[in-house]
Amino acid sequence: MPEINNYYSNNMNTTSRRSAILKFGALIAGAGTVPDLIGKELDDVRILPGYAGNTSPVSRPLTAIVIGAGNRGNVYAGYALKYPDELKIVGVAEPIEHKNERFAKAHGIPDENRFPSWEYVFQRPKFADAVIITTPDNLHYGPAMKALPLGYNMILEKVVAQSWKECNDILQAAVKFNSIVAVCHVLRYTAYFRKLKELVSTGFFGDILSVQHMEPVGHIHMSHSFVRGPWRNSKESNPMILSKSCHDTDILRWLIDKPCKKVSSFGELSLFRKENAPAGSPLRCTDGCPVEAHCPYSALKVYQKNRWYLGHLNLVNETDEEILEKLKTTRYGICVYKMDNDVVDHQICNFEFEGGITAAFSMEAMTPYGGRRTRIMGTKGHTVGDESDLECFNLETGESLKWNVNQAEITSGHGGGDYGLVHDFVRASLNHDPSLLTSTVQASMESHLMGFMAEKSRLADGKSMDIKM
Ligand SMILES: NC(=O)c1ccc[n+]([C@@H]2O[C@H](COP(=O)([O-])OP(=O)(O)OC[C@H]3O[C@@H](n4cnc5c(N)ncnc54)[C@H](O)[C@@H]3O)[C@@H](O)[C@H]2O)c1
Repeated sequence: MPEINNYYSNNMNTTSRRSAILKFGALIAGAGTVPDLIGKELDDVRILPGYAGNTSPVSRPLTAIVIGAGNRGNVYAGYALKYPDELKIVGVAEPIEHKNERFAKAHGIPDENRFPSWEYVFQRPKFADAVIITTPDNLHYGPAMKALPLGYNMILEKVVAQSWKECNDILQAAVKFNSIVAVCHVLRYTAYFRKLKELVSTGFFGDILSVQHMEPVGHIHMSHSFVRGPWRNSKESNPMILSKSCHDTDILRWLIDKPCKKVSSFGELSLFRKENAPAGSPLRCTDGCPVEAHCPYSALKVYQKNRWYLGHLNLVNETDEEILEKLKTTRYGICVYKMDNDVVDHQICNFEFEGGITAAFSMEAMTPYGGRRTRIMGTKGHTVGDESDLECFNLETGESLKWNVNQAEITSGHGGGDYGLVHDFVRASLNHDPSLLTSTVQASMESHLMGFMAEKSRLADGKSMDIKM
């Protein structure tokens, strides 16, 4: 057991995880209760399957229309290709021609159900059970508010909308029209966070008193998504505490399971600013930048050499020439210090929950690693985790429990959360039973409000803000 004080260090990095996995080999999947696990060696531990929800067979495939056939739209629709007995995609709205065409071909969508924009879908009478809204953040509200009165159920990407009022409108419409709305807080469906939630719910830690939670974004991820990419500007999308960290406020709210009462927050955009541009650097990395060879954020390195994050470049063939052309003509080739970004690269929030429970959250962008770090201190137990390993201590008995995510069956991105969400949505929707989902819009709203109020506090020099639903 590593020193718990070192948990932000490399104790739980990929290499050590890998060697732990190799050392302990394949683990047995099966049901188990928390008390059974205490004090057992890792290779004795029996684990729960990835999805703790209802795994019953479905009577027919749920039908759905994808609105926005980009990265996320293709991820969720991938479930239909893998499990055609459960989900069938029958329509698509996507303005980029080649994306629309490829998507329609992959799912066998007839021409009459292909649309160049979301508005056209709702000019037709309802023709599917559900819509999957995976458009950019500023295009969630419009389609959601049209779909709900027509009686569609909905998978709705986070961030739900761009203001608390818009989020609340969607919530009210979902209630009024009795629709099932799953917000894509996919971490709730991961094996790791389900295991953590199960430990909390079964009383392993006693009553939670305090939580420390950190989101290390990763420096290249930051430079793509939050400096050059879709979430760089809070007016076009949302502030960082929502666009990146609504998952984290949601996980805190879910684990603590009490209303959040107050927040104060500080944070800045410090690195990716014009005054930090290297001397002599041109606007674009392709224009003969003198530091390009040493710059970790060089667009040539990120996109052309390493071919990372190409999804947002909307490429047809992904050839070197096509990528270079995009770097010369789109914002993805612009120097990271010369963009129109305004979202923060570090932010801290202090939350107070009902009953005096406290939670401290940090978002840190420039990290060479990912994997959210969480410590929970309860009256009877303690844990440290990094989205892969959990190490728990029982303060009363002195016994310990180790758990590794590789003990669970993972079948999709976000630690199994992406397909976990669709799996539960299909069942909730076909049975019209929202209790089969954990991230209904009702359950997700308060954590969005925590984000909106945290941002308000940050902009008010950290003034403490009351949170009232
Ligand atoms: N749950 C998560 O963990 C997670 C992760 C990443 C992104 N997201 C969210 O998912 C959403 C989509 O992100 P993405 O990375 O897939 O972006 P993306 O750009 O890859 O996909 C969005 C798609 O919407 C299309 N679109 C634009 N205007 C449209 C219109 N008028 N009608 C229909 N389609 C339109 C775009 O052409 C694009 O193909 C965002 O809200 C984002 O915040 C969630």
